[in-house]
Amino acid sequence: MKTDTKTVLITGANSGIGSAIRDILQQNGYTIFGIGRKNSEILCDLQDTMMLEKKVRELLKTTDINVLINCAGLGIFKPHEEISVNKMKRYL
Ligand SMILES: NC(=O)c1ccc[n+]([C@@H]2O[C@H](COP(=O)([O-])OP(=O)(O)OC[C@H]3O[C@@H](n4cnc5c(N)ncnc54)[C@H](OP(=O)(O)O)[C@@H]3O)[C@@H](O)[C@H]2O)c1
Repeated sequence: MKTDTKTVLITGANSGIGSAIRDILQQNGYTIFGIGRKNSEILCDLQDTMMLEKKVRELLKTTDINVLINCAGLGIFKPHEEISVNKMKRYL
């Protein structure tokens, strides 16, 4: 694995924009490692930064990552005053 030049780490690869990018890259021969809370090669909540660092360090022991694509995120579509402080923290 250390010599693969087409290895991509994608956050949010199991749905939406990340999933669409994943599909296209896979069709073009890229090896994908998705990070997400479910249905991903690397299961991790990105809010748990300690766990994230641990999992990525583990991966890097065996794999060179050539590209990082950050697609994970959440959208809150309502008036600002209706968004709780907790939700805003998660959003950030
Ligand atoms: N779609 C659009 O038209 C559009 C336009 C502008 C901006 N955006 C923004 O782009 C981002 C992605 O949009 P999308 O439509 O692809 O959203 P989506 O379909 O809801 O996908 C969100 C992805 O983020 C991952 N994710 C969210 N929170 C996570 C966490 N705490 N830890 C790990 N993974 C997490 C989810 O994976 P798991 O469920 O496995 O955790 C999921 O794969 C969002 O921030 C959205 O607001 C989207």
